[in-house]
Amino acid sequence: MAEYGGGCCRCCFSFIITSGFAALFMWLSLRTSKPDCSIEKFYVPALNRSADINSTNNHTIYFDLKLDNGMKEKGVSYANISLNFFYNSTHLPIANYTVPGFYQGHKKNTHRRQLLEATGLPWAAALEAVSNGSTVSFRVELATRVKYKIMFWYTKRERLEVGGDVVVNDTGKKVNRKNIKLKSGSPGPASHWVRVGPLLILTSFIIVFL
Ligand SMILES: *[C@@H]1O[C@H](CO)[C@@H](O)[C@H](O)[C@H]1NC(C)=O
Ligand SMILES: *[C@@H]1O[C@H](CO)[C@@H](O)[C@H](O)[C@H]1NC(C)=O
Ligand SMILES: *[C@@H]1O[C@H](CO)[C@@H](O)[C@H](O)[C@H]1NC(C)=O
Ligand SMILES: *[C@@H]1O[C@H](CO)[C@@H](O)[C@H](O)[C@H]1NC(C)=O
Ligand SMILES: *[C@@H]1O[C@H](CO)[C@@H](O)[C@H](O)[C@H]1NC(C)=O
Ligand SMILES: *[C@@H]1O[C@H](CO)[C@@H](O)[C@H](O)[C@H]1NC(C)=O
Ligand SMILES: *[C@@H]1O[C@H](CO)[C@@H](O)[C@H](O)[C@H]1NC(C)=O
Ligand SMILES: *[C@@H]1O[C@H](CO)[C@@H](O)[C@H](O)[C@H]1NC(C)=O
Repeated sequence: MAEYGGGCCRCCFSFIITSGFAALFMWLSLRTSKPDCSIEKFYVPALNRSADINSTNNHTIYFDLKLDNGMKEKGVSYANISLNFFYNSTHLPIANYTVPGFYQGHKKNTHRRQLLEATGLPWAAALEAVSNGSTVSFRVELATRVKYKIMFWYTKRERLEVGGDVVVNDTGKKVNRKNIKLKSGSPGPASHWVRVGPLLILTSFIIVFL
């Protein structure tokens, strides 16, 4: 009798261990992380005070956006990526741009560079501000929807909305030499729970079953 009980216990124990590993493996293989978006370069020719006088009439902005999929085993499919540019925080919308949607493989990164016509920006005031040794600030907001490719199938699309401030001085370039990582306003715990939810249900099911 005692021997039988011991065998059952061992069997239960190995079942728990196996389920535990299965759940851990499942979690590891289904876990996704959002791609990193950053502004690597930002240049406003009209604010470059060492440029010749003609570039003050050049109402363009140039940006270099990097999109980085850090995941080793999952691809990312981006829907159209909309970029909104603002002057002075989010006070004035000055330009919009759409990066057409595309697929990005495992551990890949890519750049999107573009020169845009900016409208509605108070150019004279901005030039005066940087000439006085102060800085002006731009805001870049990115919005898209991404889905992840795990082996042969795709997850549901989820929103990716991030933004960042770019400070520019009289060189016309961003002051911060480092890349500006675009961050989300809210960390979005809801989507995290949606992903972890099934695992918790599975785990509690195993516990109750035992
Ligand atoms: C600013 O203008 C000067 C003169 O035209 C040019 O040499 C320099 O490369 C410009 N700065 C940037 C960041 O392009
Ligand atoms: C400025 O632009 C005008 C035409 O828009 C041109 O005639 C002139 O040569 C330019 N000046 C410089 C310094 O490039
Ligand atoms: C504005 O400046 C950029 C960067 O220097 C240059 O590539 C572009 O041709 C200029 N555009 C006009 C209209 O002068
Ligand atoms: C993506 O953007 C292009 C233009 O940039 C547009 O023609 C197309 O309809 C957009 N696709 C979707 C799904 O919105
Ligand atoms: C930015 O906006 C604030 C609030 O509207 C204003 O007080 C400030 O002067 C603006 N700065 C620039 C550089 O336009
Ligand atoms: C950019 O798009 C928004 C709507 O998404 C619009 O309100 C704004 O006027 C547009 N700005 C420019 C400069 O086209
Ligand atoms: C720049 O400096 C001048 C004089 O020093 C001042 O009159 C002006 O208000 C300043 N402009 C800005 C945008 O700070
Ligand atoms: C403007 O920013 C550049 C890049 O960070 C820096 O090298 C330069 O010294 C700054 N200029 C001023 C006047 O602060």
